[in-house]
Amino acid sequence: MEAEALTTIETELAGEIAGCDTLASLDDVRVRALGKKGRISGLMQQLGSMAPDERKAFGQAVNALKTQISGKLDTRRGELTAKELANRLATERADITLPVRLGPLSEGRIHPVSQVFDEISEIFADMGFAIAEGPDIETDDYNFERLNIPSDHPARQEHDTFYLSGSLPSDDVGDGMRKVLRTHTSPVQIRTMLNQKPPIRVIAPGRVYRSDSDQTHTPMFHQIEGLVIDEVTHLGHLKWCLEEFCKAFFEVDEVKMRFRASHFPFTEPSMEVDVDAAAIGKPGQWLEILGSGMVHPKVIANCGLDPEKYQGFAFGVGLDRLTMLKYGIPDLRDMFSADLRWMKHYGFLPMDMPTLARGMSS
Ligand code: PHE
Repeated sequence: MEAEALTTIETELAGEIAGCDTLASLDDVRVRALGKKGRISGLMQQLGSMAPDERKAFGQAVNALKTQISGKLDTRRGELTAKELANRLATERADITLPVRLGPLSEGRIHPVSQVFDEISEIFADMGFAIAEGPDIETDDYNFERLNIPSDHPARQEHDTFYLSGSLPSDDVGDGMRKVLRTHTSPVQIRTMLNQKPPIRVIAPGRVYRSDSDQTHTPMFHQIEGLVIDEVTHLGHLKWCLEEFCKAFFEVDEVKMRFRASHFPFTEPSMEVDVDAAAIGKPGQWLEILGSGMVHPKVIANCGLDPEKYQGFAFGVGLDRLTMLKYGIPDLRDMFSADLRWMKHYGFLPMDMPTLARGMSS
């Protein structure tokens, strides 16, 4: 093989490289030149059949050729990459001000109860409340006893409690250790006071259970508990807080409310709260939405806090009722029927998170 022949190969390959318009065709040239069966690799194989002095000079020449061609390939690859990028930038314009395209996500919906959970959390978070949680399976002690509902208390009957097997009132289990499906979110009050030092400001959303089922009752439903404990909070704060909540929730400037004297063993005094349904276009009709009151000193003492020092309020909101009110849902039972047609109609888009600034339910 002559030096001349090498020059010819170089010229040819350089021509091919310069003629490449795409990265793919450039890679073809690379394979044909430097690949295992490429032209330059082929030259290398001839070395074995050469005389030693010839071999040295030829080897150097082929290596130089190889370096040359590699360099040219790299340069051309750089040019083509830049060209392709410029091309893509020119053709694939992304308008980042367009709304998010949901794709398959647009099929899914947030259940109205979850939406209302989120709305209420947003409202109370803004007032400085944290979120607390408790288990669905509670002890008799937390669900009743420490909330000042002893086992002979008539309020127990009202609660239509589901007892876990081996935990029936007649079974011989240790006092207070009976397991129940919580009948309200109020046991989270106990858990919070046992685990945190005042000042306390929490809300606790969750599922609750009662053995009751008809047109307006389902065996499982949802509540949000609220608890504030410190050294100064009084009934006026409770009223203000609930009023602010209702205005934000119903997205109105003015909401007519009625505080009715009531009774719960764990609050004293106790009040049930009704709102004028004008908020949902039915003026003059009172709708009960929650139970509330000042936390009973006995409950505070039952959690190891000094009732002479600490005081505060609690409330429990029936979430399903509130959801039906706000979103005009006629039948409670449909809420838990897992019917996709119902979800499509009443559900919310996953990306539409409720915020105070942008609106709760837009
Ligand atoms: N736990 C009560 C219920 O389920 C509601 C409530 C909570 C009342 C907190 C007062 C204070 O009916």
